[in-house]
Amino acid sequence: MTLVVHTISEARQQVVLPRRSGGTIGLVPTMGALHAGHARLIEAARAESDFVVVSIFVNPLQFGPGEDFSRYPRTMTSDLEVCTNQGADLVFAPPMEALYPTDQLTFVDVTRISDRLCGQFRPGHFRGVATVVSKLLNVLQPDRAYFGEKDYQQLAAIRRMVSDLNMPVFIAGVPTVREPDGLAISSRNRYLDNSQRQVATTLYRGLLYAQELIRTGEKHSALVRERAMEYLRQEPGIRVEYFDIVDADEIQPITGIISSPVRIAGAIWVGNTRLIDNLPA
Ligand code: PAF
Repeated sequence: MTLVVHTISEARQQVVLPRRSGGTIGLVPTMGALHAGHARLIEAARAESDFVVVSIFVNPLQFGPGEDFSRYPRTMTSDLEVCTNQGADLVFAPPMEALYPTDQLTFVDVTRISDRLCGQFRPGHFRGVATVVSKLLNVLQPDRAYFGEKDYQQLAAIRRMVSDLNMPVFIAGVPTVREPDGLAISSRNRYLDNSQRQVATTLYRGLLYAQELIRTGEKHSALVRERAMEYLRQEPGIRVEYFDIVDADEIQPITGIISSPVRIAGAIWVGNTRLIDNLPA
């Protein structure tokens, strides 16, 4: 059974020994509700680090007013099973007062990268993510930290934060884990009822369609986007929040010709559930 600690001092204490004996520390930051995507992150950390820490903390700072902070799934018992099965050495599960003992007056803002895609529809979200990830990196001082490519904009923002702030940690991106029908695995998929689950794959199919257009020679970004949007509009059970083609580093929309690696990214609503996904091209 993986050891669980709740305070910052206990967490710091636990990483002293492995570090002193020359071991590397791998951190997998999560908000719990662990699924196969998280299991893959822990597996990657396990393969590349001597001591693996999983943090579990539903971070209020990255949820906007009216978002699903209070109904976000909290499943500690099964989360611990996943951590144990994947061979994590330590779970750091701080209560709110441990990470936010007083009003937070200091924030990390990764400008530009946070502006588009999800940032446009979730103001303050990436500021909340970057701030809590900075805290976790400061508490545990891992050599490597693992993030899923499903949240590609988050991965890009954290990579830039670490580089801009000279943080001594390597940020590892891990490919998205998908259901057999292509739906990206997400903690929020559990909100979907059966009929919503059927239409939820539309986003992935739209992304594949756009990826195929680009790979077979269509280089006009606006055209690719328009054709993918036409495809998505055929499904009345979803509402598209955004669908864009952006550069892979700074997440800025490509307005003209696609001439370097891009990320195609989208967000849709299926009922009250917001789903995001992306693919490279
Ligand atoms: O991807 C997530 O689960 C969260 O955004 C993270 C990185 C754990 C920060 O709260």
